[in-house]
Amino acid sequence: MDHIEKTKERKMEHIEICLRENVQFSKSAGFDDVEFIHRAIPEINLDDVKLEISLFGKRLKAPIIIAAMTGGTRKGGEINAFLATLAEEFGVGIGVGSQRAAIEDASLRDTFSVVREKAPTTLKIANIGAPQLVKSYTIKELETIVSMIDADILAVHLNPLQEAIQPEGETSFHGVLERLRQATEMLDVPVMVKETGCGVAAEEAILLEKAGVKAIDVGGAGGTSWSAVEHFRRGGKDQLGKTFWDWGIPTTVATVEVAAATNLKIIATGGVRSGVHVAKAIALGANAAGIAYPFLEHAYKGDYHKGRSLMGNLIKELKVTMFLTGSKEVSDLKRTRLIITGRTAEWLKLRGIDVTLFARGERPSLKISR
Ligand SMILES: Cc1cc2nc3c(=O)[nH]c(=O)nc-3n(C[C@H](O)[C@H](O)[C@H](O)COP(=O)(O)O)c2cc1C
Repeated sequence: MDHIEKTKERKMEHIEICLRENVQFSKSAGFDDVEFIHRAIPEINLDDVKLEISLFGKRLKAPIIIAAMTGGTRKGGEINAFLATLAEEFGVGIGVGSQRAAIEDASLRDTFSVVREKAPTTLKIANIGAPQLVKSYTIKELETIVSMIDADILAVHLNPLQEAIQPEGETSFHGVLERLRQATEMLDVPVMVKETGCGVAAEEAILLEKAGVKAIDVGGAGGTSWSAVEHFRRGGKDQLGKTFWDWGIPTTVATVEVAAATNLKIIATGGVRSGVHVAKAIALGANAAGIAYPFLEHAYKGDYHKGRSLMGNLIKELKVTMFLTGSKEVSDLKRTRLIITGRTAEWLKLRGIDVTLFARGERPSLKISR
């Protein structure tokens, strides 16, 4: 089997394992440690709650992004068409999976460009891995990746853990910052960096901001675990995948750290499972929340009714949460009072963040001196 065939097979295996096995983190993304203080007197009407935001030059009807999953195979193309139709209908953002396969084999481009056709107006996020950026990609290839889906922003995904534990992994991460800096200078669209389940801490976020990156998808721990996926790829016998199953910075913690340490736009992905979680992610510092796994099964089966109902519920739950916290606009969530307890509070305190500020409706800033 040649290299491209192997990449395609691996991508399908990932999806099938995600649907067949339990590949979720056993530790939590931290949303249960975060509670809004209920406002018995919201002083707004539910009907006045507005979910619209502007992000990367696009208007979204809700601060939600269907996170990067697939492309590069026929089935991946069908899934992308499904997800893009859903994103366009609801006016939310959509990311595609790594576009590496379509650079290596131009015949696969339509499995990504279908997103441009089905979601012509909404926010679209292109995707490539950091190892590819470091190893070989020219600016021309990056431009091809962006134009393939008419993307508003390019996400470079960081997945050092997954690369380290998969047998065919590409583990060259030396020089990522410099390559990112070059990409930010030469591309017409902004560049975002996206972790894929292990989170981003304040120190790395500061380096990325200095490199010219405009946004971070914190891709935190607590949702889909790539270590778990790799464990099952080797028949559930692989020790390395098992050992690192729960490795990473929980999504809530990473969101607070990046928001406290930088001025970057933030997407909180990893274990977001309800509209209440979306609201909490934004209240902690995100601009929008990303959701991948919950949409996968419906997209795989082509059950559009279930996809719509999932998205509809997320939006309703977000709206009710905003009402109960007196938040007329999405940005008002950032002034809500939040109680942060448990492991999330403990982690944040050890990092020098005063969680009592959240309880009073204020937000912390974090200075890192290194
Ligand atoms: C089947 C599948 C494939 C994925 N492929 C990619 C990818 O190619 N690039 C990327 O940046 N993230 C990829 N992700 C990661 C997701 O975008 C997301 O960060 C992660 O699944 C956590 O979100 P969740 O807990 O809602 O699933 C993939 C996720 C799934 C489930």
